[in-house]
Amino acid sequence: MPVLWQQLYASRAEGMRASDIREILKVTAQPEVISLAGGLPAPELFPIDEYRRAFEWVLEADGASALQYGPSEGYRPLREFLAQRLSGFGMRCTADDVLITNGSQQALDLMGKLFLDPGDQIVVERPTYLGALQAFNQYQPRYAVVGMDDDGMCVDDLEHTLTREDRIKFIYAIPTFQNPTGRSMSLQRRRRLVELASKYGVPIVEDDPYGELRYEGEHLPTLKALDTTGCVIYLGTFSKILAPGLRLGWIVAAPEALEAFLHGKQPTDLHTGMAQQMATYEVCKNGFVDGQVERIKAFYKERRDVMLRALEEHFPSDAHFTRPAGGLFVWAELPRTVDTRALLIDAVRDKVAFVPGQGFHPDNTGTNTMRLNFSNVPPDQLREGVRRLGHAIQRRLDTASESRVGI
Ligand SMILES: Cc1ncc(COP(=O)(O)O)c(C=O)c1O
Repeated sequence: MPVLWQQLYASRAEGMRASDIREILKVTAQPEVISLAGGLPAPELFPIDEYRRAFEWVLEADGASALQYGPSEGYRPLREFLAQRLSGFGMRCTADDVLITNGSQQALDLMGKLFLDPGDQIVVERPTYLGALQAFNQYQPRYAVVGMDDDGMCVDDLEHTLTREDRIKFIYAIPTFQNPTGRSMSLQRRRRLVELASKYGVPIVEDDPYGELRYEGEHLPTLKALDTTGCVIYLGTFSKILAPGLRLGWIVAAPEALEAFLHGKQPTDLHTGMAQQMATYEVCKNGFVDGQVERIKAFYKERRDVMLRALEEHFPSDAHFTRPAGGLFVWAELPRTVDTRALLIDAVRDKVAFVPGQGFHPDNTGTNTMRLNFSNVPPDQLREGVRRLGHAIQRRLDTASESRVGI
């Protein structure tokens, strides 16, 4: 008798569908498609030579430790390095407050695993990171959605949500150069958010993969730096400042919560790979990462500027798009008549791809929105990609207005 797979899956597996992004990335793997879809860093910037030397050194100096099982908390010198660096950004912590994870994606999964029973609620920004929704969905939560404007999450609406809604387990926020919008939360709202979380005893998960990639303007303190009561769980990653293939991230949290994360991580993977932790420590220990961040910023700033100029030139005048001061993404809102999922089919025919915005909305709104990535595409292709997209949008708008007047 054949195995009837569908009948065997646990009910939580229903929440585990392939993301829009993964499906799109399959199409855009064709070399002639200009992909503004992924969130990939520019591979030109990967510190390949530094890692070649570091891996060689690690294997030579202490190959046995690099290839042996290691501590679940992570490689101590790397945790010490991170604690020192984060303290420099105003997030006072010691190595004991840092847990190394397999990218921050693992931390998001651990949040669900540790905090969510089916039907529990998470406060999220609308829109929010699709990969977080995917991680949380496995645990069958409900979402209490809070809107955003150019100053980030509308924190004034949050208090209402916190008092009205039941079973809220945590607030998930990406306050700096958010994925997908590129927006940042104002300082005033950051303070208010932390204040509200403390007042109501609800933890905040601050997901911060892009915070260091600022191309202009003043540095803003993280929520963690403003946290005096220990209510912020801070998630960081090397993915956007060194390389995502390392799968190295970290959690900084109050000791009690960190211990729970440790117990959640152990049954999943025992620990994060020692070889890449040790090599990363070698790469980082003499200040390399600060110079690397500066190189990345100069490189991406140029690409962001090219994309914004091309959007001004080629997108319809009634389209709105963000002008992010950092990060990897621009978010566009098109006239209501344009369904961006349908638009994507036209766009891929024209050999350009983007991510339709609906998947970033837990309430399935945002049908006329899209996320555009500028970090992974060279400037001439960025211009051409946005030009093709602008034409595809115009064709949709023309068709919509023709059908309105009955042509
Ligand atoms: C907001 C956000 N959180 C988490 C992640 C996952 O990052 P990592 O590679 O560290 O798992 C991403 C990746 O793009 C992201 O944009």
